[in-house]
Amino acid sequence: MKVAVIGTGYVGLVSGTCLAAWGHDVVCVDKDAQKIAGLQKAVLPIYEPGLADLVESNAAAGRLNFTCNLAEALAGAALVLIAVGTPARAGHGDADLSFVYMAARELAPHLETGAVVTIKSTVPVGTGDVVEKIIGSIRPSGSFSVASNPEFLREGVAVRDFLDPDRVVIGVEDERARKALMDLYRPPLEMRGTPIVVTRRRTSELIKYAANAFLATKITFINELADLCEEVGSDVGELALGMGLDKRIGASFLNAGPGYGGSCFPKDTLALLRTAQDHGVSLRLVEETVTANEARKRRMALKVIDALDGDVDGATIAVLGLTFKPDTDDMRDAPSVPLIETLQRFGANVRAYDPVGQENASRLLSDVEFCLDAYECVRGADAVVVVTEWESIRKLDLARVKRAMRQPVLVDLRNAVSHGVARELGFHVSAIGRSA
Ligand code: UGA
Repeated sequence: MKVAVIGTGYVGLVSGTCLAAWGHDVVCVDKDAQKIAGLQKAVLPIYEPGLADLVESNAAAGRLNFTCNLAEALAGAALVLIAVGTPARAGHGDADLSFVYMAARELAPHLETGAVVTIKSTVPVGTGDVVEKIIGSIRPSGSFSVASNPEFLREGVAVRDFLDPDRVVIGVEDERARKALMDLYRPPLEMRGTPIVVTRRRTSELIKYAANAFLATKITFINELADLCEEVGSDVGELALGMGLDKRIGASFLNAGPGYGGSCFPKDTLALLRTAQDHGVSLRLVEETVTANEARKRRMALKVIDALDGDVDGATIAVLGLTFKPDTDDMRDAPSVPLIETLQRFGANVRAYDPVGQENASRLLSDVEFCLDAYECVRGADAVVVVTEWESIRKLDLARVKRAMRQPVLVDLRNAVSHGVARELGFHVSAIGRSA
């Protein structure tokens, strides 16, 4: 099947590349000529493990092409995926749909008769209806379909999530769209027994927000329990294990930490609240999740200040890991940012190291000394703070870290390193959900 993908951001690029890997003839289109020129040489605008190789091999096989020419991309395409950004509107919290609507307006004149336009971008309930109206104002109704097919990709493991998903959700209003999307997903996923949930379009749109809000709530729940564990002498890791083995609860997304960040949970929870508000419905749990998570991110600096007996003025603090999670260069809503800014306000000198996020971090943070590796970062430090659990940070040689530091204070906001080993070496350890 020929598939055109509009937008070569995170979702569009991963989806287009994986569909090509399944044997489809994919053309990815973007207005950004520089991005397209890079992609034509397999130079990726994002960091995502495994993606560069897949782009290169599928492009070489002729199944994956990149262009700025929309008409060329849409010629002969039975399926058109809209995968443009839907950022939060500043000061509003709702999703900015202008890129989605612009894509709908621009694609309409070039659409093949019978083509299925599928929205992959995360969009509020009812967006499919508007897109259908926009295209319908240019093309005869009945000559095209509009469907919803949200993505559930996690940064860092997006290729695996696409090729081997827990489920696929498709939202359709007619048989043509149902058949096209089943033809796309069923053959490669049949062997794996992956469930394909077929719903009306509006339900599919809402599933995406509901899933992200639920996961954000789950993380916030365990983070609040972590606070209680610290006070009563319990261990949040063991608590999560004991809870999570109950199949009704599930073990994943129970890792306590400094609060969730990234480009999805913060944005999507706010957009969901906005939708609920517009319809006079109150989602109190989600509201609390958003408030508690913001407060938690700000509070993490106090943990560091406490570990240094209440005073960080003039102290050197080494921050290890800056991105919102490992295996990405994404700094959006990363907990490291409010942490570092607060420490700086209290007079600390901050040194930092991240395996791939430093370039993006340097655009958000000022007066931070970025280091070449973790060991250089901790040199002369009064405290080391683990913020993102990169594999290389988990495996740090703590004896070497201690030798390089001015005083052995470890604040581990991800419980990523061995606290037993650290204590044996003489570190003062402050962790999440474990008493000192
Ligand atoms: C999230 C969802 O997991 C995806 O299913 C969804 O497709 C994506 O948003 C999206 O809407 O595009 P992502 O933001 O890449 O994916 O990252 P997650 O792995 O979900 O982590 C989000 C945040 O929660 C990170 O800051 C992470 O450190 C934190 N987290 C996650 C925890 O603190 N504890 C956990 O147990 C899990």
